[in-house]
Amino acid sequence: MKVLVVGSGGREHAICTCFSRSSKVSKIYCANGNAGIASIAECVPIKPDDIAGLVEFALNESIDLTFVGGETSLALGIVDEFAARGLAIIGPSKNASQLEASKSFAKDFMFRHGVPTAKYFTAASTSAAIAELESGSFGETSTPVVVKADGLAAGKGVVVAKDRAEAIDAIREMESLVGAVAADKIVLEECLFGKEVSLLMFADGENFALMPATRDHKRIGEGDTGPNTGGMGTITDDALLASQDLETVVETIVRPSLRGCSQEGFRFRGILFLGLMMTADGPKLLEYNVRFGDPETQAILVRLETDLVDICEAMLAGGENASQTFSAIRWREGSSACIVLASQNYPAKPKTGDPISGIADAECVPNVNVFHAGTAKADASQDFVTAGGRVLGVTATGPDLDSALATAYVAAAKITFEGMQFRRDIGKS
Ligand code: AMP
Ligand code: GLY
Repeated sequence: MKVLVVGSGGREHAICTCFSRSSKVSKIYCANGNAGIASIAECVPIKPDDIAGLVEFALNESIDLTFVGGETSLALGIVDEFAARGLAIIGPSKNASQLEASKSFAKDFMFRHGVPTAKYFTAASTSAAIAELESGSFGETSTPVVVKADGLAAGKGVVVAKDRAEAIDAIREMESLVGAVAADKIVLEECLFGKEVSLLMFADGENFALMPATRDHKRIGEGDTGPNTGGMGTITDDALLASQDLETVVETIVRPSLRGCSQEGFRFRGILFLGLMMTADGPKLLEYNVRFGDPETQAILVRLETDLVDICEAMLAGGENASQTFSAIRWREGSSACIVLASQNYPAKPKTGDPISGIADAECVPNVNVFHAGTAKADASQDFVTAGGRVLGVTATGPDLDSALATAYVAAAKITFEGMQFRRDIGKS
């Protein structure tokens, strides 16, 4: 079977690694891929927003299965385009992708289907959002308020403001931060408090299979300080979601969400990612993502023992067979951790082109995978150099969280490049 993976980060390296372990896969292509992915897949220079180019490639190469990594291609309707030509592809349709591509759509959807979430108000423009805050009807002057750009904003579209004045400043800056299209509408939200957990699942439109619960660490600095990033590290650990809470999440969030999609005529097939806040009032949904997270995926997939191809085939087939495959998915016992090594000056202005040493040594540590994100290689004989903000994700499994973390940090310590940044407190908060 020939597989195409769409994307170029650590997430896609982890997905390609799973496919490379499958006896059913004879060839992997990755568009665009990166220097690490190039060791297990043929990287092809087609961008994730070039849907016509991806369709043409898949038809010309007779690709049997395409797996979409990121939201850009999904929001542009890659799944509809592939499906119309009879090409098998994993991911939700353009309609279903609105759950991530439009925050106001997602909030209205949660409301329609009784999914517990923060109170919200959708403003039709930035000035309407400011007027709403100034009129005082949304929350009290002194309470925190969350400001969200409606559209896709690569993680930059959410500001948790400590009061109304800060929220207004954030709204004024939103357009220059994320662009006029993403900031076309603004969602104002009540600020929720609690521990955050992410729960991902494979879904065929009806059945679902939960993955191990995960937590990411978004700020650049230890103790959750400094600016937000794409994610500086993740863990998976059963203790993140007590079984009682997990049951509540399944009954109040997972089932109503999947049922809601079907009722609204867009069955959700693919990876559904729930960003949850465990509040004193019970679990609430902050957001949907319609794809694997990065770097959540790196920590999740190193625990997957079942062949990813079998799971993909089940998602495509649906019905009783899918339900059986889903219930037989095996995860390696214990925990995992992914430590992101980022370049100098990330996230503001990542420095690139620095030689990286020690990757092979890190990979020799038992139970470790080093997933590449922003790396490049001038030619096969040369060393890897940094080529982006998040450079590598050093990922380890272990019988418990402490051992997974210890192993990941031992491996990470073998890697060096100028200005390398990483957090020493992943999994600790
Ligand atoms: P989102 O992209 O909607 O998940 O938002 C990104 C981050 O902003 C989340 O992971 C939370 O840390 C924070 N956040 C979003 N919505 C809220 C909320 N209503 N209350 C508190 N924090 C929030
Ligand atoms: N790490 C968060 C995300 O992928 O959206």
